[in-house]
Amino acid sequence: MENLVEAIKQLKKEKNALIMGHYYQRSEIQDIADYIGDSLALAQQAARTEADIIVMCGVHFMGETAKVLCPEKKVLVPDMQAGCSLADSCPADAFGQFIKEHPGHTVISYVNTTAAVKALTDVVVTSSNARQIVESFPQEEKIIFGPDRNLGSYINSVTGRHMLVWDGACHVHEQFSVEKLAELKSRHPEALVLAHPECKKAVLAQADVVGSTAALLKYAVAHPEKTYIVATESGILHEMRKRCPQTTFIPAPPSTGTCACNECNYMRLNTLEKLYQCLKDESPEITVDPAIAAKAVKPIRRMLEISARLGL
Ligand code: 13P
Ligand code: SF4
Repeated sequence: MENLVEAIKQLKKEKNALIMGHYYQRSEIQDIADYIGDSLALAQQAARTEADIIVMCGVHFMGETAKVLCPEKKVLVPDMQAGCSLADSCPADAFGQFIKEHPGHTVISYVNTTAAVKALTDVVVTSSNARQIVESFPQEEKIIFGPDRNLGSYINSVTGRHMLVWDGACHVHEQFSVEKLAELKSRHPEALVLAHPECKKAVLAQADVVGSTAALLKYAVAHPEKTYIVATESGILHEMRKRCPQTTFIPAPPSTGTCACNECNYMRLNTLEKLYQCLKDESPEITVDPAIAAKAVKPIRRMLEISARLGL
């Protein structure tokens, strides 16, 4: 493993490559990444990098977003099969039909979508900026929000909006057990529950803090004296434990199986071996149809501009 890490570092230097990793990646990938972050931070970093090659250790839509922002760069992913059930729950043709059936709406799409869906969108959001971007529109604005029903209904509830929400979901965040979480809370009455807004309403109802992976991490770092039950993909616990070594973090369990924590099978497809091989071969490479990319880049750039203006 040490040799592999050294070999990756060597290749990265030779090829002027930047390794980016999402917080849901395996610990060893997070440790070797030049940059780790949530979906918003990864898009922001991709937009500003001077590297020739971006290796996106995350899932396919993250690689696509980087490619759309940097069409002149080579964007690699360690495993092309690393998809996303939430992005899959919103096919572009069906979403396009939904938009046609509801004329006069502004279309806001979560970043967990294909480039083809982004091409149908007015502004992209991530879980770090969704609430603020929705609130940047007038209260009476008619909005279609896709594809996550949990994030959409959470934003409706905290903003008093009535966005039309696409009926999609992430299979990982839907899996948290309401009953096991309640039981865990009664065993650890001192613990605060940190939850990602992709979780079901009944899980969010038990949460003390709801936010993106970066927001949950930030909260824990600011209050390291507390104990936390964490309801999001368990990869985030690696950075939480690194940044707060004295703090107790307990993963919230899924409803099925005997596992104590909830992992995204897509995120976990990336391994150090595949990372090494993809840097060596410069493959698999993300490609995006230029006509789709030309449309998709606009709502992504709009998100980055609004986020910069709001200091996010
Ligand atoms: P954030 O990175 O915005 O917290 O979203 C998590 C996610 O769904 C990535 O798959
Ligand atoms: Fe997609 Fe859910 Fe996996 Fe994130 S955790 S990549 S939303 S399937």
